[in-house]
Formats: sequence, structure tokens, C-alpha cells
Amino acid sequence: MSLTDERLDPTINPAIAVQPGSLIRALNALKTPESIDLGLGEPTLSPKLAHFEAATRWVGVHGCRYSTNVGDAELRAAIAAYYAFPALPHAGNVCVTTGSAEAVFVTMKTLLDPAHDEILLVEPAFPIYAKIAQIEGVALRRVALSADEDFAFDPERIVAALTPATRMIVLCSPCNPSGRVISRAAVDAVATALERRPGPRVVVLHDEIYRELQFTDDVGSFGDRYAQTVAINSLSKSNALTGLRIGWLMAPLPMMPHVVKMHGWATSCANTFSQRVALEVFAAGELASQRPWYAAQRAAAVAAAAAAGLRFVAPEGAFYLFVETGATDGPAFSRALLAAEDVVAIPGSTFGPASAGWLRTTFVAPPDRLAEGYARIARFVARGRSA
Ligand SMILES: Cc1ncc(COP(=O)(O)O)c(C=O)c1O
Repeated sequence: MSLTDERLDPTINPAIAVQPGSLIRALNALKTPESIDLGLGEPTLSPKLAHFEAATRWVGVHGCRYSTNVGDAELRAAIAAYYAFPALPHAGNVCVTTGSAEAVFVTMKTLLDPAHDEILLVEPAFPIYAKIAQIEGVALRRVALSADEDFAFDPERIVAALTPATRMIVLCSPCNPSGRVISRAAVDAVATALERRPGPRVVVLHDEIYRELQFTDDVGSFGDRYAQTVAINSLSKSNALTGLRIGWLMAPLPMMPHVVKMHGWATSCANTFSQRVALEVFAAGELASQRPWYAAQRAAAVAAAAAAGLRFVAPEGAFYLFVETGATDGPAFSRALLAAEDVVAIPGSTFGPASAGWLRTTFVAPPDRLAEGYARIARFVARGRSA
């Protein structure tokens, strides 16, 4: 559909109207209780009720009022101390947001000028970055990691894709959907190139929402290395708290007043009750507590996909196993897979053109369901190849 398409409702902003809704949600809505669900990127573990009870007691004393726009001071201090990023060390570097989704939106909205700025998006990548750029009218350049290299983060490829207009690089590591992580050496190579570049700064928006779910020791973080980093995270994936809607961004001090203005206009402040729950999670030191469970799930998924004879990317982080299907029409493949084999999985094309022909599977289901799911996917892929 184009901006001039006559089917567009003229009373709706065309930048929104032309965008299709979420395919991930649409596929998810088609599943039944019997379906094997490898679709939605959502943990299945239960949260600890004690943290909610402590927050309820706090509300009994203090009420449930707005916090400051930027968020609860104690929580911001706990977040800053936990990461101890050299360039972002203080509570003053932290703004608490309504999930990391809002943090991404606020960061891009605040830092990019649609008149002349360009973002460089490292793909495959979670779709909201491209959507926001398109909605905001910010020029979007995509740099595709190579399927032949199992979508490894390649610093040379990223740096070579910069243009004089690039003002922000957006990357997600550990990556949704590939499960790859950027190494420390790769972070260093990109940071060094950016520091040597003449002209205005280039910000790196590092979405680290899967940081706590990593299965390798060599995990690079731009917050550890590059001064112009905005690091984004949340409790959604690390602690199975997607519904809590608590995330945060960490940015250099000169950016903070502007980011906080935008955040305040969008949402006043993050949910105060949720901020208290988050403080309990930090105080209990539970950020990485669920990692062993995900490591076991990863092992089960890798074993099942290998046994099924699939080609896939061995996950280094997050809870996704990216499978090659070779299908040219990913959405049609996913719909047909659901109809024929009752398996929900997300087409790679959702994450950019570089990963058409791939399928994102989420490994949070019980191991026997994972084994059955990968067997069915393999059967369906083989049928397509022989057709
Ligand atoms: C890479 C990535 N970033 C951001 C989000 C948004 O998460 P939340 O707003 O729950 O923190 C998601 C959710 O799936 C994600 O996968």
C-alpha cells in the first residue's frame, strides 16, 4: 500500500495508516490450546509474588501516586549500580520507562531529526526500530548481517555502512531473532571507528533486553566501551515480567533532560507500583536468576532441532532458535505451517529482508513440545522442498 492508496482513511495519519499491524500478534491470535507455540517472544515462568506483596505494602503506606517523570530515585540508583557502565555510572543517567519499548521510542524521538538524520539498523532485528523510524520519517538504512555467517555481528560490515548522515546505530544483542551476541572485540572495533570519525557524534542505541539470558562469556556491551551509548533494558525477559511494563534507558547526562521531557509527555512516569516491584527484584539480586532455566531450554531446543535435521543458528543468548526454511514468502510459510502442522513460528522477513527464508522459534515451551515442534517444522520444510 502506498501513501496515496485510495483505501487509506484520510482522517488517519498516513504514516501510521500504511503500516500493517503486528504479524507476530496476528499469528499468535490464530493458535489454539493444542497448538505448539514457538511464536510469541514471552517467558512462561511465573513471577515471585513476594515482590508484589512488598510493593502492595508500600502502596498501603505511600499511596499509588505519580513518581517524578524520570522515575523512583532508589530504583534508578539500583539500576546504575547494577550495570556500572563507565560512561553511564549515575542514577542521573537512568530514566525508568514503560518497558523497553517506550525507551526505544523516546530515545529515537528525542535524538533524531527527520530533516537530516539517518539511522543505521543492524538486521535481522526486532521490528519496532524500523517502524518508529518510518513513522517518524527518519531515513532508515539497513545493514544486513550475513546468513552465510549465521548472522554474526560483523563490525567491518557495520562501519562500512555508515554515511555522513548517520546519527544513530541501532542494534539488539543478544539478538532477537538470531540469538547471536556481539563480542567485546566487535564492540571495541565499532566504538574505535566511531571515535575516529570526524563530524557530529553517532549514538549507539544498544537494546540489551536479553542481556541476562546469555550462554557465552564473550558478550560485548556498548555501555562498557563507548561514551555515546544509550543502553536499553527491562525486566520483561530477564524476570518473566512482561506485564509489569518496567524498562529503562541509560544515556549520557547532556541527553537526559531532553529524553525525560519526551518521556514525561508520552507517559508522565512509569507505573509507580511496578517501579516498587522492580526495586524488590534489584534488591534481591535476581536479575540473572532465571538464566540456568534458559540454558537448559536452549540445550533441549538445540538437541531437538539437530535431531530433526534442521539448519539453525546456535543461540548465544535470548530464547530464540533461528531456523532456515528457504521459503520465499515467509508469512505464507508461517500460515501454512500453522494450518498443516499446528505450529506457531514467526517468519524471518518480520525482522528485515536479510532474514527472509528463516523462521524464528521461541524455546520457552516444555522440552517434549519443543522436540515435537522442531520435528513438525522439519517435516514441513522437507515437504516444501520436494514439492
Ligand atoms: C529486542 C526487543 N526489544 C524490546 C522489546 C520490548 O520489550 P518490553 O517493552 O516488554 O521491555 C522486545 C519485546 O519482545 C524485544 O524483543
